Amino acid sequence: MIFCKSMVPYIYSKLQWVLLCCFLFLVHGENIKRSDFPDEFLFGVATSAYQIEGAYLEDGKSLNNWDVFSLSPGNIQNGDDGYVAEDHYHQYLKDIEIIQSLGVDAYRFSMSWSRILPRGRFGEVNPDGILFYNKILDELILRGIKPFVTIYHFDFPQELQDRYGSWLNPLMQEDYVHYAETCFKNFGDRVKHWITINEPNLFSQMAYQIAKYPPARCSQPFGDCPAGNSDIEPLIVMHNMLLAHGKTVNLYRRYYQHEQSGSLGIVLDCQMYEPLTDNVLDQEAAKRIMAFYIAWALDPLTFGDYPSEMRQYLGNQLPQFSSDERKFIRNSIDFIGVNHYATSYAKDCVHSSCSATANRSIKGFVDTSTERDGVQIGEPTGIGSLRVVSRGIGEMVEYLKTRYDNMPMFITENGYSDPQLEGEVEDAIQDFKRIEFHKMYMSSLAQAIRDGANVKGYFLWTLMDDFEWIHGYSIKFGLYYIDRQTLERTPKLSAKWYQDFLKNNTQTPTIRITESVQYTANS
Ligand code: FCB
Repeated sequence: MIFCKSMVPYIYSKLQWVLLCCFLFLVHGENIKRSDFPDEFLFGVATSAYQIEGAYLEDGKSLNNWDVFSLSPGNIQNGDDGYVAEDHYHQYLKDIEIIQSLGVDAYRFSMSWSRILPRGRFGEVNPDGILFYNKILDELILRGIKPFVTIYHFDFPQELQDRYGSWLNPLMQEDYVHYAETCFKNFGDRVKHWITINEPNLFSQMAYQIAKYPPARCSQPFGDCPAGNSDIEPLIVMHNMLLAHGKTVNLYRRYYQHEQSGSLGIVLDCQMYEPLTDNVLDQEAAKRIMAFYIAWALDPLTFGDYPSEMRQYLGNQLPQFSSDERKFIRNSIDFIGVNHYATSYAKDCVHSSCSATANRSIKGFVDTSTERDGVQIGEPTGIGSLRVVSRGIGEMVEYLKTRYDNMPMFITENGYSDPQLEGEVEDAIQDFKRIEFHKMYMSSLAQAIRDGANVKGYFLWTLMDDFEWIHGYSIKFGLYYIDRQTLERTPKLSAKWYQDFLKNNTQTPTIRITESVQYTANS
């Protein structure tokens, strides 16, 4: 650009406007466009089998862990269950039409283990299960939508729990590998992106530390369960999952990769943590909790062993990999799947007092909170612990970029759940805040990509309001509203916004979400 001194007064006179525009842009995060992302970047929506399929005992599917868990009163809010869910099993065609109408490049969904192998290794493959996923894959491909398939997303045949205690037992590794291979054999010709396991870090804590997910095991002070050991079992469960992942990836690379040429990744719950204070101890605590929650899974799968921080605090409680195992789990991911929703503060417990559940080796002696000096880290959402902190997604990919040598990443889930709605359909459909949430998170992500993060895609959670595990149907993350009586799908404003965004049109109206605003602790 040719620049001469005579332009200075002109630029000066316009400066206030330039600054104002910059300010508005930064505050709104609003002008995010598809073209702010690289050309080959994929946009999609994500779902999981148990959360939408229903048809819980149809066409040969067996009872799974969530079917059984839902039976006991008190486990799921309002006594909800996934028996009908969104009836996607029958309405999949309509749903794929909806997915296509959004204009996405890709669709992330999971397969139901108990539909494909109702008795795990102890029975036959269910042909109707195979048929169902063949129909889905064929439809997606016909419509030019890339399938991203999660092999296992929290649900497995109950028989594996009853026979040998599922993930607490190394036998589960063999069952998992058998199931994954069944998927490769039947679907691998069309699936180029496989996700072995969804959120092993969240699952092992929810199911074996605080007993919120089946098989709901725990010990004091985490809870009062008939059986379990909250300090040890999550570590064993993760160990079995990592070995199951490693064995599966080796099998794929050896026997299927050549013909099917797919890539395999794992998805983690990637909650971000910032230090509660500037104190060096809290800064260390924030690093430590990231190691205990994220590197816990990713270090073994990249470097072949658990993070040294964990070994330091857990000693022999942390399982060991044999040298053979180290070899086959090392470098066993082609990409990292990042499920990111929220950010919290981390506080050191080694040198200051903390709650009984935080002041323990399994927690790395770190406490967490969403509040600093009475100020919330971000606006509340439907789920208490998840606050809107859009910078967190950028911080998270930056962390992964640095620790894992900028390995390819996909944002496999990012979404907003409405705080308690008045119960009116109109409220649910006028979801301005969801739109603003995605714009802000996408802006932060786009900046991280400009700063060099190797992020290849973004999947919005989720296509339609669904069975949100322990929250049942009370928590809504969807682009589509579901009438629970008729199961009719109605697009929310956010569906229209996403469609427009994907066409590079940014006109849909929005209102603002406040970040780091003053919320009193009990508001
Ligand atoms: C994640 C799960 C997903 C969904 C979102 C809200 O932990 O992977 O199934 O429930 O939370």
